[in-house]
Amino acid sequence: MDGWRRLVEGRRLVEGRRVVEGGRVVEGRRVVEGGVVTTEGSTSGATAPTVEFDFTGKVAVVTGAGGGIGQAYAEALAAAGAAVLVADIDDDRAAAVAAGIRDGGGSAASCRVDVADPASAEAMAAAALDSFGSLHYLVNNAAIFGGMQLDLLLTVDWAYLERFLSVNLLGALTCTRACYRAMRTSGGGAVVNQSSTAAYLYAGFYGLAKAGVNSLTQQLAHELGGQSIRVNAIAPGPIDTEAARTVVPEEFMTPIINSLAIKRQGSPADLVGMCLFLLSDRASWITGQIFNVDGGQVFRA
Ligand SMILES: NC(=O)c1ccc[n+]([C@@H]2O[C@H](COP(=O)([O-])OP(=O)(O)OC[C@H]3O[C@@H](n4cnc5c(N)ncnc54)[C@H](O)[C@@H]3O)[C@@H](O)[C@H]2O)c1
Repeated sequence: MDGWRRLVEGRRLVEGRRVVEGGRVVEGRRVVEGGVVTTEGSTSGATAPTVEFDFTGKVAVVTGAGGGIGQAYAEALAAAGAAVLVADIDDDRAAAVAAGIRDGGGSAASCRVDVADPASAEAMAAAALDSFGSLHYLVNNAAIFGGMQLDLLLTVDWAYLERFLSVNLLGALTCTRACYRAMRTSGGGAVVNQSSTAAYLYAGFYGLAKAGVNSLTQQLAHELGGQSIRVNAIAPGPIDTEAARTVVPEEFMTPIINSLAIKRQGSPADLVGMCLFLLSDRASWITGQIFNVDGGQVFRA
């Protein structure tokens, strides 16, 4: 996927892109003028919003951004002007994503992080400050997902379960604890946690961890609301990533897609608009909420 290409035309910053996704071509250009960002040009497919976000001067950390959904979040934030620290336990993949952003004219650095390890999370926060001098946004996307063990709560190996929960549930807390002081001294900001519709369905220990992420989102929203830091979560439905293909075989995915109100699998690009909205000032009175982006998979009355 190509990133945005930046050009200066007179006093306007014009950014163009050509994105090839699943055989669809999305083309467009957006114009940044007087702090207002609009999209021009033709688009096809479901991915291009008509109004974009401007994160110029802001700094974001995205965990688990070495591929999949986290990569899409990191690239979208950089395309909208943020400086992004691409953090992942796989530092080679994180470095490749950051290099791709820089090649496209964006601002990015990378670091290795194990989100289950408080010292590693502290080093990640320090790396953001070292690289960019401030920190406003944290996207807690990292999780053990691709290649995860498929087992029951009643039988899964206990040591594996403990490690799984320390990454997939407590990892978001570990990283928030490491980052919130820097976010506060940078003037406040926002956290987006990556949940899943699995929190509302039978999904064993994966669902248990995501239900915990939802509660963590609500509790932390109260602890951080007085410090100008908002905390929300996105609960995606089935999203086509390399990792998802290792967890859900095609023969299981087809009935899942047929059960959705919108009968197609989501893509990482389907999630990007919600992530950017929740981080942006347009969501300045929204905190402690979990937003499904799921093609109508789960109804909550
Ligand atoms: N793909 C889907 O259908 C789907 C649906 C709902 C929610 N999600 C959630 O979205 C997120 C991303 O999913 P994805 O499909 O892109 O999968 P993915 O496996 O590509 O992304 C997870 C990333 O986290 C990294 N990671 C794993 N353990 C880590 C650790 N201890 N510290 C730091 N990084 C670590 C991995 O290296 C990987 O890059 C996950 O939180 C997943 O649970 C995915």
